[in-house]
Amino acid sequence: MSSDDLHALAARIRAEAESATDPRALDAVRVAATGKSGALTALLKGLGAVPAEERKARGAALNQVKAEIEAVLEARRAALEERALEARLLAERADATLPPRPFPPSTGTGSIHPISRTVEELTAIFGAMGFAVAEGPDIESDWHNFGALNIPEHHPARQDHDTFYLPGETTRNVLRTHTSPVQARTMLSEEPPIRVIIPGRTWRADHDATHSPMFHQVEGLVIERGITLGHLKGCLTDFLRAFFGIADLPVRFRSSYFPFTEPSMEVDIGWNRRTGELGAGSDWLEILGSGMVHPRVLANCGLDPREHRGFAFGMGIERITMLKHGIPDLRPFYEADQRWLAHHATSALAPFLLHESA
Ligand code: PHE
Repeated sequence: MSSDDLHALAARIRAEAESATDPRALDAVRVAATGKSGALTALLKGLGAVPAEERKARGAALNQVKAEIEAVLEARRAALEERALEARLLAERADATLPPRPFPPSTGTGSIHPISRTVEELTAIFGAMGFAVAEGPDIESDWHNFGALNIPEHHPARQDHDTFYLPGETTRNVLRTHTSPVQARTMLSEEPPIRVIIPGRTWRADHDATHSPMFHQVEGLVIERGITLGHLKGCLTDFLRAFFGIADLPVRFRSSYFPFTEPSMEVDIGWNRRTGELGAGSDWLEILGSGMVHPRVLANCGLDPREHRGFAFGMGIERITMLKHGIPDLRPFYEADQRWLAHHATSALAPFLLHESA
């Protein structure tokens, strides 16, 4: 083959490469030129038959053409890929003017988040026992969150709270670490008899599968003439059995310590630790804290401890919700994942509540 023929061949391959409109056509051009039985490959293989004095120049020319062709093929491949990507981006462009897809009915607007549902259930159960709902601010003074509740500065209980302190010059504010400060607010603003539950957000610097820096608690406070530990036990036993919907749920009161109650009791319910079934088995699961309001707390909140007496309790709303519905992880409560909500959110109150309020 003359060098003119070689250049004609190179020109033809280049033209074919340029006119290939998709990667597959381009690959066919590559195979026909530089593949195992391609035209250029055949010429390189035939070098051995070329007379020795021409071989060197011929080999150099062939290799140069081959390198050029490979560069052309590579450039064309990159261009085709870019064009394909552009076409795809254009085809898949989101049309912001399209109407939204409707949510499946179970997650439609108006379904009730499990936390809200538990608050509604708590409100219904305690409401039937004569409790009103009270609320307080998320940002609390150090005094309401700790001092009023008999947790002075340097008290060891402060260390357990992983408190978020807010910056301030004169007064130190915190994100409330429990709903108990609203006990103090209620005693300061209302005359006994008092019978309230206080659901709301609480905050602690703690984060894993069972702790979130923001979570919810419900507090209970009763201040009434003649209130005893027996009332506390009866009230909480009735509540736990109604909430979990188990009429004979075993309930155990265990002596404990909180700075703001005396005596203090933690409350356990019976369950099977292995299967997670509540009300069955021989294991105990701690569920809430409670006690008779400490005389010093009454005095701090303007009530005469010789005249007034009451009980208080507090529990985690996520925790009792997880136990009731068998939800293993706390984090999805706050992630607004439609699939999780479709599974756990509801559009109606639990049937036993409809029955209770009937
Ligand atoms: N505030 C306590 C807590 O966060 C719970 C509690 C409330 C205990 C009321 C006793 C009385 O753990």
